[in-house]
Amino acid sequence: MTSKLDVVIMAAGKGTRMKSSLPKVLHTLAGKALVRHVVDTAQQLEARHTIVITGHGADQVEAALKAAYAEGGLKFARQMPQLGTGHAVQQAVPHLPDDGVVVVLSGDVPLTQTDTLQALVQACGGDKLALLTIEFDDPTGYGRIVRSPSGQVHAIVEHKDANEAQRAIREVYSGIMAVPAKRLKAWLARLDNKNAQQEYYLTDVVKFAEAEGVPVVAHKITDAAQVAGVNSPAQLADLERAYQQRRAQALMMDGVRIMDPARFDVRGELVCAQDVQIDVNCIFEGRVQLGQGVKVGANCVLANCVIEAGAVIHPFTHIDGEKLGVTVGEGALIGPFARLRPGAQLGAEVHIGNFVEVKNSTLAKGAKANHLAYLGDATVGERVNYGAGSITANYDGANKHRTVIEADVHIGSNCVLVAPVTIGAGGTVGGGSTITKSTEPGALSVARGKQVSIANWQRPTKNK
Ligand code: UD1
Ligand code: CA
Repeated sequence: MTSKLDVVIMAAGKGTRMKSSLPKVLHTLAGKALVRHVVDTAQQLEARHTIVITGHGADQVEAALKAAYAEGGLKFARQMPQLGTGHAVQQAVPHLPDDGVVVVLSGDVPLTQTDTLQALVQACGGDKLALLTIEFDDPTGYGRIVRSPSGQVHAIVEHKDANEAQRAIREVYSGIMAVPAKRLKAWLARLDNKNAQQEYYLTDVVKFAEAEGVPVVAHKITDAAQVAGVNSPAQLADLERAYQQRRAQALMMDGVRIMDPARFDVRGELVCAQDVQIDVNCIFEGRVQLGQGVKVGANCVLANCVIEAGAVIHPFTHIDGEKLGVTVGEGALIGPFARLRPGAQLGAEVHIGNFVEVKNSTLAKGAKANHLAYLGDATVGERVNYGAGSITANYDGANKHRTVIEADVHIGSNCVLVAPVTIGAGGTVGGGSTITKSTEPGALSVARGKQVSIANWQRPTKNK
């Protein structure tokens, strides 16, 4: 393969049918902006330069891409106003060295595979014009691939410019081509807009190629999802499903048990060891790693976390490690209805039950918080039992402080541990206590109003 590859991504169009204030190419598929799927594909091709043509919402599109990719990794060229695909690629010309092959992509066609583009570049071979094409039962709206009787590609005729016979052609141009830069630049300079849409059509380069005796080759594929563009919310939803089905199929091929691939969503990277089971309606975001034999119950959202071997995540659990990450240790039981936030580091066999929230806290092996509790900025020792309704008061209104609960402590129900505070090893805290001072190992600490009981108490009666 030629090493001098430059990619042009057209992303200046308006996307009227999305009926959205967000530029079309910033709508997300699998949690990632459409145009980022295309940029990532370009990067897998190891393109020398990747030039993004922006126009509608240019500031927003460029800002989003600058935030996502290393400085200097992408070049931008603005197209104002938008006078057609040929005019769009013209804006990239100053960034295109003569010695390369240019691959033209669209920012709203997210699922083209790298190997397809590599085959297209192979077909170009550094000196031909290579078009990615596909046959559709309903080719309405697309540019038709017109071939000579010998089968040689002769022209691309846009739907609006096509006659009846041409409209009957089912082979269409996908919008993706690979072309020698030097040729492309000369041809772009000659485009005109004398056509039904009064646009500068990139597809007119086929005519020039033919006139100059440059071979035009079609690389025809059959997988429609790879060339499908997004023009409406409904098309975006269809492509999202196509994408998720593929992710699910690939995981199942590796042995992951997915209860229903139609109710499964990965928006990032999901790495699974052997014998993982995933029930319906789970969403995986960011980078998620599931260890051997992990079970994820129905309706869980797992993001940026590592779940170690044998752990069970019961239904309706929400885990998001964001930047700090979350770790769930081997054999831990989490949920149902648990919430693990950034910096939750749970050791082996930890139990976190319903309506328990853990943030920026370490729980050692065998620690349990089974009901209705909050652990924030806490260090919890082995085998600690943290009672229902108890919380760490970690925030004094200005600063966060740590709570240390040493090994084998038993915290009763409805306690408030006012940080900074340490509960010494093996200690017990009576239910309903508000603990403001650290306690000695082995101590029983009770900090609540003493109970008063008045015998034979008569309740007031209503005045007559
Ligand atoms: C284009 C092709 C058509 C092909 C179809 C495949 C041309 C003339 N026609 O059609 O043969 O079958 O794609 O989907 O190329 N864009 C710009 N600036 C512009 C116009 C478009 O950046 O001035 C961008 C759009 O944002 C989009 C891409 O180029 O990402 C394609 O534009 P679109 O209008 O969808 O292409 P069509 O004219 O439908
Ligand atoms: Ca158009």
